[in-house]
Amino acid sequence: MFQIKNIVKHYNRTGKNVKAVDDISFNVHAGEILAFLGLNGAGKTTAIKIIAGLIKADSGGLLTSEDEKVDRNSISALLEGHRNLYSRMTAKENLVYFGVLRGLGLKASKQRAEELLTFFGLDDKANEFAQKLSRGMQQRLAVSVAMMQKPKLLLLDEPTLGVDYDNTQLLVESLQKLKAEGVAILFTTHELAIAERLADRVAIIREGKLVTDKIQPKSLQSEASYEYKLVVERSEKKSIQELASLYSLDVEDNCVPSINQSLLPKVLSAINPINIVSLTKKQPSFEQIFIKHARSTSC
Ligand SMILES: Nc1ncnc2c1ncn2[C@@H]1O[C@H](COP(=O)(O)OP(=O)(O)O)[C@@H](O)[C@H]1O
Ligand SMILES: [Mg+2]
Repeated sequence: MFQIKNIVKHYNRTGKNVKAVDDISFNVHAGEILAFLGLNGAGKTTAIKIIAGLIKADSGGLLTSEDEKVDRNSISALLEGHRNLYSRMTAKENLVYFGVLRGLGLKASKQRAEELLTFFGLDDKANEFAQKLSRGMQQRLAVSVAMMQKPKLLLLDEPTLGVDYDNTQLLVESLQKLKAEGVAILFTTHELAIAERLADRVAIIREGKLVTDKIQPKSLQSEASYEYKLVVERSEKKSIQELASLYSLDVEDNCVPSINQSLLPKVLSAINPINIVSLTKKQPSFEQIFIKHARSTSC
């Protein structure tokens, strides 16, 4: 298991201080795919760069489950817009080159390159120059390069950005196979459908803060995850705010945006005789859950 502990990062730009990452902590387990979601500027890339060791945090960092410092060779990262490829080398040459660069030795690099070309469905492209490959193939090759030294944690920032449907499917399948081999994967995306399909768990970051790391897309369809939105008469604002605080619910003006199914009977019996304007059952769609966490208002 990898532990990300209390990372904080400020940027100073033209005299303005931006807190890009504000005390974020979470874990990623072996064989787990964790999606890291948030609106633009939320702090995802900064957090990934810190975890990858590419920039220094002001404080906090990455530790193993034994609270020890992580061996940098066990982590590999592919950042958005940075293809770790040489365009005038073939697919295989790129893999071998980076393998040797990371200390694998020539023979082992060649062998690992063959394995990865097959794993990522690029066998027939082995001898093509990287620049001749489609963007989607280049992306699959770039992820292969990141896997050369068999990292235990793979960090991918927007891996499907600009990648077409077919290549996205192939990439998703390859990442699922890596997970089955026990690799821990942390990735960011703006494509909610991909996060929902691929992630075991979803973490959401908003204005540098981690608002949740517990969303499990695959269990969203269960009854237990249904939520209700309650709106009362404006004149009842004070009473509903007291009630919300009693049950630790968020309240916005005369609206309680989400009451869990299990809590609803209690809230409704306590609410008597407040005048209700509406009570709406909310589909537990992944998109709504994302919006609820990623933005600051939901009523
Ligand atoms: N190199 C930098 N210098 C100054 N500010 C930065 C730099 N990189 C990111 N930021 C700021 O930090 C915040 C988080 O950015 P980023 O980590 O790129 O978010 P995300 O990847 O979620 O879109 C933003 O306000 C962004 O403008
Ligand atoms: Mg980013």
